[in-house]
Amino acid sequence: MSKLVIENLHVSARDVEILKGVNLTLEEGETLALLGPNGHGKSTLLGAIMGNPNYTVTEGRIALDGKDVLAMSVDERSKAGIFLAMQYPSEIPGVNSASFLKAAMNARREKPMSLFTFYSELKKAYGEMGVPFEMSNRNLNEGFSGGEKKRNEILQMKLLDPKFSLLDEIDSGLDVDAIGVVSKAIVEEQKKGRGFLVVSHYARLYDLIQPTRVAIMINGRIQYEGDPSLIARIDQEGYEWLKREHGIEIEKENAGMNKVSIGTCAVKETIK
Ligand SMILES: Nc1ncnc2c1ncn2[C@@H]1O[C@H](COP(=O)(O)OP(=O)(O)OP(=O)(O)O)[C@@H](O)[C@H]1O
Ligand SMILES: [Mg+2]
Repeated sequence: MSKLVIENLHVSARDVEILKGVNLTLEEGETLALLGPNGHGKSTLLGAIMGNPNYTVTEGRIALDGKDVLAMSVDERSKAGIFLAMQYPSEIPGVNSASFLKAAMNARREKPMSLFTFYSELKKAYGEMGVPFEMSNRNLNEGFSGGEKKRNEILQMKLLDPKFSLLDEIDSGLDVDAIGVVSKAIVEEQKKGRGFLVVSHYARLYDLIQPTRVAIMINGRIQYEGDPSLIARIDQEGYEWLKREHGIEIEKENAGMNKVSIGTCAVKETIK
């Protein structure tokens, strides 16, 4: 069984330390929900695992089945079975969606697929994700709506079939139907035994995909871990109780980071 191990990970962006010693293990077959107040380092962690050049790893280790992930290029990480659906997918002008997918899928095979096989798989994936097939002719994410970009990320995941998928707020901007389509695709991959690290602020997605564990990131560290019942508690109460019951300070001391006050929770803020 594959295993992704993160040890004492320290990551900086523009010389500001964001991750301050993250320890986390993810096995295939697990779905880990990663929660935490805005600006505390969740996307930074996912970006660092995938090799986003905006983040500099200053200390620590990431290993996939004992292999040093930090020594791999982004491309090698992808081929090794890591996939990232970004919080804000980039628009890539000049890169045709279908050509990109064909190149990415062929890069994982010894022999390139026949055009017939490729188009059959492509059509099936577009159909299952409820994305019009004509969109495969458009440039990657260029002019896509917020929801279209998110569906497209999951479509890529389906076609690339990674061991570990890192999904960063995949539910943001999705309409009710799209949340259903996206979570169904995730559940199908879960059934195949794939591993997931899923960042979301909303219990609704987690209700649909049923994580096996929960981790809470505060001030650039995983400060609390527990079972999925934590999600309902955070949804109702925010993060205040972590300070009250466990003495975990939530205010960020670092001037380089956004100020987030105790108890900030996206759901609580919206329903005020
Ligand atoms: N490239 C960058 N340059 C400078 N600062 C950055 C960069 N990327 C992230 N940061 C800062 O690092 C901190 C953590 O950001 P990150 O995006 O990881 O938070 P998050 O936990 O994903 O928040 P959210 O829930 O709002 O998505 C923030 O204060 C952010 O402004
Ligand atoms: Mg984020």
